[in-house]
Amino acid sequence: MSSDEVNASGAGVEVDRMAGAVPEPGSVKSDPILIADGVRRSFGGLTAVDVKHLEVQRGTITALIGPNGAGKSTMFNLLTGFDRVDGGRWSFEGKQINGRRGHQVARAGMVRTFQLTKALTRMTVLDNMLLGAPGQVGERMAGAFLRPVWGRQEKANTVKAMDLLERFKLIDKRQDMAGSLSGGQRKLLEMARALMTDPSMIMLDEPMAGVNPALVQSLLHHITSLRDEGKTVLFVEHDMDVIMGISDWIVVLAQGQVIAEGRPSDIRSNQQVIDAYLGAQEVEGEAQGSGDD
Ligand SMILES: Nc1ncnc2c1ncn2[C@@H]1O[C@H](COP(=O)(O)OP(=O)(O)OP(=O)(O)O)[C@@H](O)[C@H]1O
Ligand SMILES: [Mg+2]
Repeated sequence: MSSDEVNASGAGVEVDRMAGAVPEPGSVKSDPILIADGVRRSFGGLTAVDVKHLEVQRGTITALIGPNGAGKSTMFNLLTGFDRVDGGRWSFEGKQINGRRGHQVARAGMVRTFQLTKALTRMTVLDNMLLGAPGQVGERMAGAFLRPVWGRQEKANTVKAMDLLERFKLIDKRQDMAGSLSGGQRKLLEMARALMTDPSMIMLDEPMAGVNPALVQSLLHHITSLRDEGKTVLFVEHDMDVIMGISDWIVVLAQGQVIAEGRPSDIRSNQQVIDAYLGAQEVEGEAQGSGDD
């Protein structure tokens, strides 16, 4: 067993990927891949997101947690160009990317999955993957002039898709309609599809929700492997065991604002977090049923 596996299970010596980051809202990181300032979004009179300063450390698993309605998904939508901010700017890999649309953000190397999976159910698993390949729509038009290049590109995309399906244990399902997959397999498909563009950062919105325990283990393994390959993972999750078990850093959102940041040990003992979130989680956990597959 490698030291990282021991670390992921919470039993081994901690590897500090956070290099001295101070556990406080807006905390500065030594090697941030993403830096956001003044990100705001309101819906009518409701302020969904109002994040003053946020940095995500490169090569880490960072969890974004908070009670229902805290603004986690809205923050994802804003950062990845799926919704428009009322104010704010952010840079990714040193490039300012606010104002860019989803596909442009993906091209810059930042991809996301959705809380409700967006697999196209009447399309095969393999075609869903190919749809995730870089520059699908626009370049298909130009393709008439670039037929030989396009052929090579398509072949390369198919090879990459097959490799990812193998890795995510979906290879036997490649010709099945995505709609026939279980909820958990769709989550895996979404994650695999997001990797088609070779992102340096992947944002997962509740990747474990509604997934059976066996697949949760496999998803956790994929998440830690992505980090260990050098990718940055930002994920939204409600399960405290999962969060505490795999995160290098945790950002706590409540009513759109970052109320705390820190390592799992900092967050576990933070009274404000316990009041805003962990207390509510207990109740919510009891009310929630088991996964759908
Ligand atoms: N398109 C929208 N129109 C109006 N209100 C919205 C919209 N999207 C989100 N909201 C509101 O903004 C707030 C933040 O929602 P968001 O979905 O970001 O929360 P969340 O932290 O992801 O919650 P959950 O844990 O339940 O997924 C909520 O009050 C929500 O009702
Ligand atoms: Mg959400």
